[in-house]
Amino acid sequence: MTGPRGLFVAFEGGDGVGKTTQQALLADQLRAQGRDVVVTREPGDSRIGPQVRAIVLDGGELDPRAEALLFAADRADHVAHVVRPALERGAVVLVDRYVDSSITYQGEGRGLGREQIAAISRFATRGLLPHLTVVLDLDEAARAERVRRQGYVDRIEREPDHVHERVRRAFLELAAAEPHRYVVVDAGRAPEEVAADVAVAVEKVMRA
Ligand code: TYD
Repeated sequence: MTGPRGLFVAFEGGDGVGKTTQQALLADQLRAQGRDVVVTREPGDSRIGPQVRAIVLDGGELDPRAEALLFAADRADHVAHVVRPALERGAVVLVDRYVDSSITYQGEGRGLGREQIAAISRFATRGLLPHLTVVLDLDEAARAERVRRQGYVDRIEREPDHVHERVRRAFLELAAAEPHRYVVVDAGRAPEEVAADVAVAVEKVMRA
């Protein structure tokens, strides 16, 4: 990544793997070290986020290309108004989902093509990539069970298990292709154990 001087970390993985919990644990830890930390998520924390969430997650049927472009529109505004300004003042930005969620869910899950979706995201973000992407990985049966227990299931989570399985595989392939920018963490353990692995990976990037 060029330009902004902060640290940009993305949390990725399937629905129910514990991204939000891990993001909060890492934020607490970094704040305890005195760092300026911004906790944010996609879709949702841009100015158009609430409307985009209402359409893509809670609305009725939507053309997959419209869905992909709405996620990209949310991302463009989020990067321009939240992520870049925070990085420019030197903050640590922890985002719950980013470009790889579009590549996996829309590119792979919806069959729109990973490269095409990656190109749309590059346009939306002006090429801003995280220093580190944490992929929280959980086997499909455990993941589906966690989502069922959590109660409310949104439009994308309602996709059949084999789609989620493809999404999972796509996350792992993205991570394997660029190991210097990713860490894959086994999310099927106690949150504190997962957090310890995440912290080690973040420390490493900070020292680099
Ligand atoms: P959300 O309620 O934020 O839940 P989660 O805790 O699972 O992240 O739901 C976001 C949903 O939107 C999730 O099912 C993944 C999906 N999504 C995409 O399909 N493409 C994207 O680019 C993003 C950011 C999210």
